[in-house]
Amino acid sequence: MRGQLLKLHFSLIITLLCLGGLLTSLIWYNYNVEPHRLSPRKKNPSQLSEPCKSCTKVMDKVAERKTEISEKQEDKPEKIREGNNKAVEQNSETSKKQEDSLQKVKEVIHKAVERYSQTWKKQEDNYQKFRSNLSSKCHGLEEAIITQNNKPVGSEIVYDGSKKTLKVTPELFSIFMKEHPFSNKTLDTCAVVGNGGILINSSCGEMIDSAQFVIRCNLPPLANGYEKHVGIKTDLVTANPSIFNYRFGALNGPRHPFVESLRRYGNSLLLIHAFSFSAYTAVSLRAIYTINDFESPIRPVFLNPEYLKSLLLFWRAQGLRENRLSTGLITTSLALELCNNVHLYGFWPFSNHPHDLHNLTNHYYDDMQAKKQFHAMPAEFDLLMRLHSQGILRLHLGDCPTGGK
Ligand SMILES: *[C@@H]1O[C@H](CO)[C@@H](O)[C@H](O)[C@H]1NC(C)=O
Ligand SMILES: *[C@@H]1O[C@H](CO)[C@@H](O)[C@H](O)[C@H]1NC(C)=O
Ligand SMILES: *[C@@H]1O[C@H](CO)[C@@H](O)[C@H](O)[C@H]1NC(C)=O
Ligand SMILES: *[C@@H]1O[C@H](CO)[C@@H](O)[C@H](O)[C@H]1NC(C)=O
Repeated sequence: MRGQLLKLHFSLIITLLCLGGLLTSLIWYNYNVEPHRLSPRKKNPSQLSEPCKSCTKVMDKVAERKTEISEKQEDKPEKIREGNNKAVEQNSETSKKQEDSLQKVKEVIHKAVERYSQTWKKQEDNYQKFRSNLSSKCHGLEEAIITQNNKPVGSEIVYDGSKKTLKVTPELFSIFMKEHPFSNKTLDTCAVVGNGGILINSSCGEMIDSAQFVIRCNLPPLANGYEKHVGIKTDLVTANPSIFNYRFGALNGPRHPFVESLRRYGNSLLLIHAFSFSAYTAVSLRAIYTINDFESPIRPVFLNPEYLKSLLLFWRAQGLRENRLSTGLITTSLALELCNNVHLYGFWPFSNHPHDLHNLTNHYYDDMQAKKQFHAMPAEFDLLMRLHSQGILRLHLGDCPTGGK
């Protein structure tokens, strides 16, 4: 069984590699015609650390294996934002496109700011309707997390990023949470914190921490002076398994640094994307065994791929044309079912600040580039902006008042 799986896995990789090479050249070739093509396939560690922006997109594998080969080509869409650079010198046609794009982005930002500047007021009616619609389709409070209830021994986990399945063995079952941590719960105020550079010097820490429930993405840093701007309280933090690979040596060596790094999140829930791609499962399990062995207080749980599938259908029906959702949208969706008041911070997919257009780093803690924030993110952001305008949730794009809510 295992041997067969391995074989399958191997041939899949070979196929993906070939396909990948082909895709790279195709995409590179087509880039000038249709830059959007690039968006759904890029995946590298920097992007994975792009939590509440876009974490897990399709074709992980292909892209991961091709990252090095295609780094140069992949850089191109980024350059759109950058104006003067080699690409411009090399190709004036590209340069024109880039300028157009820059102009377009400015327009988009301008529009967003305009929409945002209207006074926000919660529209209870809209909120209730939206929430009951979302709940009836996705059942996040029962299904978002894998539990011993929704995945009994012998049942199958169907990956949402591949066609693979995994049978629940007694061993696997034993690490599932007994009951859904959110069932029958309604919280008052939740803050979902994206990691965007817009949080730098925002003074939003206090306001974020005043929420009853704080959700963060992909194990972000909280100390070193960031507290003031991003807060420190954490009730749920997500982890894309790729972070275990690139930050903690796939947990094959010393595991103490990993456990240490979890300390700052206290006994929050650690929500792991273990079942999107089968390549992530083993390292996720190592993370959980490490947490258990070191008796870390953090409570690891698995994101349920079935929830992700229904969520994707839900958002697609709302107009989103994506194959995978960002972690930011997943956690926001969960918050919309769980909390009466949902506040979003650090969600801003553009590289310029909405107010004075100053350059922003990609994250509040680094400037690792996510290659396709241009294409994928604004679509999601547009949806969030719509919910903001409808008074269903509240986006925070500016600096926060200090000394009180
Ligand atoms: C902002 O970024 C652009 C593109 O990367 C660069 O050309 C410009 O010099 C930057 N501006 C400042 C003030 O850093
Ligand atoms: C949640 O509520 C339902 C119906 O009100 C009830 O049947 C169920 O036992 C509750 N679950 C928990 C975990 O309290
Ligand atoms: C943030 O504020 C500090 C201190 O006032 C300042 O030195 C720094 O340049 C600011 N950073 C940005 C990106 O505005
Ligand atoms: C409920 O959500 C679905 C899927 O997103 C959407 O097509 C439908 O219009 C929504 N219904 C209402 C009443 O909002």
